[in-house]
Amino acid sequence: MSTMPHHTPNNNLPEIDPDSLEHSARTAVYLQQLIKQQGSIPFRLWMHEALYAPGLGYYTSGNTKLGNERDQAVTQSPAGDFTTAPELSPWFARTLARQITQVHKASGTLDILEFGAGSGILAHDILAALDNPDINYFILELSPDLRARQQEKLSGFKNQVQWLSRLPERFEGCVIANEVLDAMPVELFQWEDNGTLAEKYVTLDNNSQFMLVNQPATAKLAEKIARRMPALPGYTSEINLQAEAWIHEMGRWLAKGVAFLIDYGFPQKEYYHPQRAQGTLMCHLRHHAHGNPLVYPGIQDITAHVDFTAMADAALEGGLEVLGYTSQANFLLNSGLMKLLSTLDPQDTARYAREIGPVQKLLSEAEMGELFKVLAIGFGIDEPLMGFSRGDRRHML
Ligand SMILES: C[S@@+](CC[C@H](N)C(=O)[O-])C[C@H]1O[C@@H](n2cnc3c(N)ncnc32)[C@H](O)[C@@H]1O
Repeated sequence: MSTMPHHTPNNNLPEIDPDSLEHSARTAVYLQQLIKQQGSIPFRLWMHEALYAPGLGYYTSGNTKLGNERDQAVTQSPAGDFTTAPELSPWFARTLARQITQVHKASGTLDILEFGAGSGILAHDILAALDNPDINYFILELSPDLRARQQEKLSGFKNQVQWLSRLPERFEGCVIANEVLDAMPVELFQWEDNGTLAEKYVTLDNNSQFMLVNQPATAKLAEKIARRMPALPGYTSEINLQAEAWIHEMGRWLAKGVAFLIDYGFPQKEYYHPQRAQGTLMCHLRHHAHGNPLVYPGIQDITAHVDFTAMADAALEGGLEVLGYTSQANFLLNSGLMKLLSTLDPQDTARYAREIGPVQKLLSEAEMGELFKVLAIGFGIDEPLMGFSRGDRRHML
């Protein structure tokens, strides 16, 4: 597998500009050195470095291209590597704001903590929708580059927003993480023909090109996977132990309130379905999705779908309650999206079409409505959450 970027499209990958190619080549050299020191590195470390190595990783080097379709409507050209719900439409934030208000009332606080806030657009639109100067909005962002973008985007709310550099000791209020779990590094594994479990590592071939190799998994990892799925020969998939630890840890600091974890994924049975034999790992390069995580390090996003059963179990083990689980479409409809949209004037056809098109993408089964799920975990909240009033699927976890 080749990592040195080519000027011509590789495996139908899009054309990349020279500066980005140069950046990716530098990131590749850094990763080659790391591998030379250690012989091979677990895939989890590869993904961590390719996304978060200071100054080089996709999220930590100014290379994060969050496509804002609202701008795109103006430029008519595809922007970014991928588009997230808050980038797609402000109605996502406005609807989430209604659910946040319920949590604020139930918890008796006005605080919000967002993880991985991207361009800052979700924070901006939530604060605009809530329109309450007493609300404190905290952001924990790993990427210095994205933090700078967020500061610019949120300059109109300077008195309300604070950036944290580490997890809080204690927090009461509403926690939000949109597409954060899928950006946490995963371990890659494969069941061997003899029924043992291998973990995938990244090493260098004779030409110093990156390649994946199988190494025997630790007994601990093998046991964990065996509890989740049968040993199907050749079956390759992922497990997100970092996300599980992160959620478990939330039980220590979330004293009262609700965390809404929004992401693409499924319950465990579906995640490790025998037919999903290649797992869910995916790479995004300039709006092109493909499956090779070893190419274009530093300029492409690498993600895996979320095993929501594992996340719910980690919450319970950490002392939190699982308060709801449903599709993004159900969550938005339950939280009053239609009521909000009824304020639009259908006679103003141009504006109506402009606003409704992206909302349809948020709701459509074929787009984000069904693949994306919302998991609510929390502590000390007694009343049922509006976002799960119909179609709560906790029984499927
Ligand atoms: C796919 S982007 C999503 C950005 C934004 N939430 C959105 O929906 O547009 C993933 C974000 O998660 C952040 N991230 C990943 N792990 C994190 C962690 N442990 N704590 C805080 N942020 C994290 C990344 O830096 C990045 O900003």
